[in-house]
Amino acid sequence: MAARGNWNTKLGFVLAAAGSAVGLGNIWAFPTNVAQNGGAAFVVIYILCCFLVGYPLMVAELLIGRRTGKNPVGAFRALSRNPLAPLIGFWGVLCGVMILTFYVVLAGLTAAYIFEEICYFAGYSDLANFFAATGDGGHKNAVFSIFFMAMTILIVVGGVSGGIERATKTLMPMLIVILVLMIVYVVFQPGSGDGLREYLRPDFSRVDTNLVLSAMGQAFFSLSLGMGALITYGSYLRRDQNIAGAAAYVTVADFSIAFLAGLLIIPAMYVAQAQGIEIFDGGTLKSSTTLVFDVLPNLFHSLGGLFGFLGGVLFFLLLSIAALTSTISLLEVPVSYLIDEHSVSRRKAALAIGSVAALFSLVVAYDLSWVDTLFNIFGTIGLPLGGLMICLFLGWVWKTEQALAELEEGAPGIRNSVLGRSWAVFVRYICPVLILIVFVTSVRPLIGLWVW
Ligand code: PHE
Repeated sequence: MAARGNWNTKLGFVLAAAGSAVGLGNIWAFPTNVAQNGGAAFVVIYILCCFLVGYPLMVAELLIGRRTGKNPVGAFRALSRNPLAPLIGFWGVLCGVMILTFYVVLAGLTAAYIFEEICYFAGYSDLANFFAATGDGGHKNAVFSIFFMAMTILIVVGGVSGGIERATKTLMPMLIVILVLMIVYVVFQPGSGDGLREYLRPDFSRVDTNLVLSAMGQAFFSLSLGMGALITYGSYLRRDQNIAGAAAYVTVADFSIAFLAGLLIIPAMYVAQAQGIEIFDGGTLKSSTTLVFDVLPNLFHSLGGLFGFLGGVLFFLLLSIAALTSTISLLEVPVSYLIDEHSVSRRKAALAIGSVAALFSLVVAYDLSWVDTLFNIFGTIGLPLGGLMICLFLGWVWKTEQALAELEEGAPGIRNSVLGRSWAVFVRYICPVLILIVFVTSVRPLIGLWVW
């Protein structure tokens, strides 16, 4: 185990897992999904998805990882002789690489906004426009994506604990402070009332199958579930760590940051609209991919002065680092697979997969409409599908009794507690049934064209 590397401290692991979870999923995807799908009603369904499906699955992934000490493909191979079992891991590796290809582009857009804010406040508005998402797109996006991928590769080559643990420790509290300060500012701007109502007062008549599928996919994406990222992180986990507790901490932290981001961005959209910025085009969002990037800089500009400048630069800097701790975990999955299963060195594995993903990401950088497509296929559908297979595998192939024995390590007594017992029921029955219902109801309209 030592040769494989371990997290330095107990807290180190929690920070790394939270670093993987907190990222653009919280601050870009969540508010965009809320704006696109039913406002507060989406938020309510999202909470249910996080805690009823997400949390049990997070525990499941961590247990599989720690028990086997392996990458996702190797982990399923170690736990079952069925030749199909490793396919679950392969699916995860594929989703990881594909998510990485659009994620670095968005992360690059975020990093470019650090420069946009500096130029704007220094009075160079042409240059500021160049760095904006809506500015001179392609080449700038490509350069920033490659830069972002290079940073990710560098840290992954450095190994698990050094970079990842340190980066997260001070970062998240700072991000929360800026979010809260900006929320306070936004709430006092004209137009924010409409946004608060949209975000906090659910209208359940807006719930449809599409909303539920999006909420579930969003929960998986934001919590980094369904592709084995947490199997991989769990494989570096010490046996004295309480997995149920760590997963609870990560789930709550991730949800809270997404919730705060929504509380900032949804009202800010309405404030921007009151200022004449076009957000909606006849009821639907004008641009879902760049919504957050259209709204936020405008907010910092309107704040103006030193606070606007510091807030803007710091916010995009912190968000870039939060995105980096997520891209690290995305790359770590295929890299750990190549290291374990094909005896490739860490350096070669990170370089090879990173370069392939960087190459694909160029396509996305020059045509941002790919972001939505890839997010829908590999995020909204791919991750819950992976999660379904992981639950079924754990509940019916590896068996929950074995998993409970693993859960007991680091949490004595949990095996026969209400939490332990209900976790087993969730993984075996409730989570797979919920995921299946969502899939069947949302895919049925498509199949219905031929069958019903
Ligand atoms: N959870 C990350 C985010 O919210 C994205 C991610 C998805 C990371 C899947 C790893 C695996 O930004």
